[in-house]
Amino acid sequence: MEHLPLPLLYYSCMKRMIGHAGDAAKFLGHFITSPQKTGAVLPSSSSLARIMADDMGLEKAKLVVDVGAGTGVFTGETLKRVRPGTKVIAIEINPHFARIIRRKYPRVTVISDSVEHLAKHLRTAGHRHADAILCGLPWSHFPDSLQKSLLNAMYDSLKPGGKFASFAYIHSAWWPSARRFKRLLKTRFRKTSRSRIAWLNVPPAFVHRCVK
Ligand SMILES: C[S@@+](CC[C@H](N)C(=O)[O-])C[C@H]1O[C@@H](n2cnc3c(N)ncnc32)[C@H](O)[C@@H]1O
Repeated sequence: MEHLPLPLLYYSCMKRMIGHAGDAAKFLGHFITSPQKTGAVLPSSSSLARIMADDMGLEKAKLVVDVGAGTGVFTGETLKRVRPGTKVIAIEINPHFARIIRRKYPRVTVISDSVEHLAKHLRTAGHRHADAILCGLPWSHFPDSLQKSLLNAMYDSLKPGGKFASFAYIHSAWWPSARRFKRLLKTRFRKTSRSRIAWLNVPPAFVHRCVK
């Protein structure tokens, strides 16, 4: 981008800034009307998206799913890393956000539904298992039963050896609901670990990385 003539560079930067500001405003609006489900006041930063996508084996994946995709920050990072033939699916329960992702990334299959029905949607797309799932669900806002049913739906749709990543904000990592979710991950997955902190994210966050 730095090789563009100055007016074009300026235009391109302004377009990106306005795009991000528009997504941020929409996110805030949905957080105010539906805080538990939206779970964040702003979309994740590109630095958190890079940490989410690291070590996920995206370069070799056949099918990648972005769950709770919001305005598509992780979807965009996924597209930078996968091969041209890789199938990328974004699942987002909020139809307004789903429309934004569809407009931004026409190559992605966008499903506006709860991830609870992931298996059915994978079958419709001609797949049984995903190689990697990047998950942005606000787990610490969910009760025990919902944490279990949504995590089970994703676990069942992941291939053996498949990778699962989900972020958590550092300020809420000690909430009972967040600790319960961390324990749940350990009971389900063969391997679990924690990433470094994305300090530039608002608020700062880290990633739970898991292998089935
Ligand atoms: C914390 S936001 C993360 C959005 C995006 N991944 C990001 O990091 O910017 C959580 C998203 O999960 C979506 N969501 C909540 N429950 C869901 C469910 N059961 N199935 C699919 N998406 C869901 C919300 O609508 C919201 O967009």
